[in-house]
Amino acid sequence: MAEGPLRFGWLSDIHLDFLDHEEREAFFHRLKERSLEAWLLSGDISQARSLATCLADFVRIVERPLYFVLGNHDYYHGSIAGVRREIRDLCQTLPLLVYLNEAEPLLFGEKTAIVGVDGWGDARLGNPMTSPVFLNDFRLIEDLQELSRRERVQVLRRLGSEAGARLKEQLEACPASVDELLVVLHVPPFKGASWHEGAISNADWLPWFSCQAAGDVLLAFAAERPACRLTVLCGHTHSSGVYSPRPNLVVFTAAAEYGCPRPQAVLQAVPERGFLPVLDGPPKS
Ligand SMILES: [Fe+2]
Repeated sequence: MAEGPLRFGWLSDIHLDFLDHEEREAFFHRLKERSLEAWLLSGDISQARSLATCLADFVRIVERPLYFVLGNHDYYHGSIAGVRREIRDLCQTLPLLVYLNEAEPLLFGEKTAIVGVDGWGDARLGNPMTSPVFLNDFRLIEDLQELSRRERVQVLRRLGSEAGARLKEQLEACPASVDELLVVLHVPPFKGASWHEGAISNADWLPWFSCQAAGDVLLAFAAERPACRLTVLCGHTHSSGVYSPRPNLVVFTAAAEYGCPRPQAVLQAVPERGFLPVLDGPPKS
């Protein structure tokens, strides 16, 4: 356990496949100029074919640790297991890269920790059986291709349950001394955090824009550990907002625009108050 950085830049849904090589390098150089100690990234980095290159270029240029989870787009034109295997191998060769989904909790001193899981829109909230929304995920991720609606809903629920179970493992692996916990997810864990175009997602979008399994785990942990403050960072819906279902649990959802990646906020651990956005301000709801 080492004393580590407590000022983190937060990125989400940067979709680097929408930038050409020069634009990508310029973006990384702008991040480097922020002189933060580390970056958090809540998924949708690129697509499977270019993901490893984007991650390697990030740490080569920014020269800071990158603690990340993957989003649904990161699996496009690949399989979930295949992409995770490739990224696991990459992280072994580049120590600045930490894929939170497969890492132990990162501890910074005795009181502060970071955990993270990818999460999936787990087809539990809203109307999964009647929604007319058909995501590109269902064409471009091998695990979700060519399924009936009923099969797809089953797979998504299984993926959500796996994410919830993994998150529970990570939370329970945090020492009891931890009272500031940063949780990085891709998919919003609650209906109230599932902002879409400036409002809460409707019943047609909610099945794909919320991970109820992760939300249930967070609520249970927050109730069990009222002295531990949980700050959740997520993205996926590209519309920002703040939602706090309990006094010790707050969820920030990131705004995003294809082709215009930018930092969401800088978060700093403030004793007794949790991780607060200190420079760029909280996402606007
Ligand atoms: Fe995205």
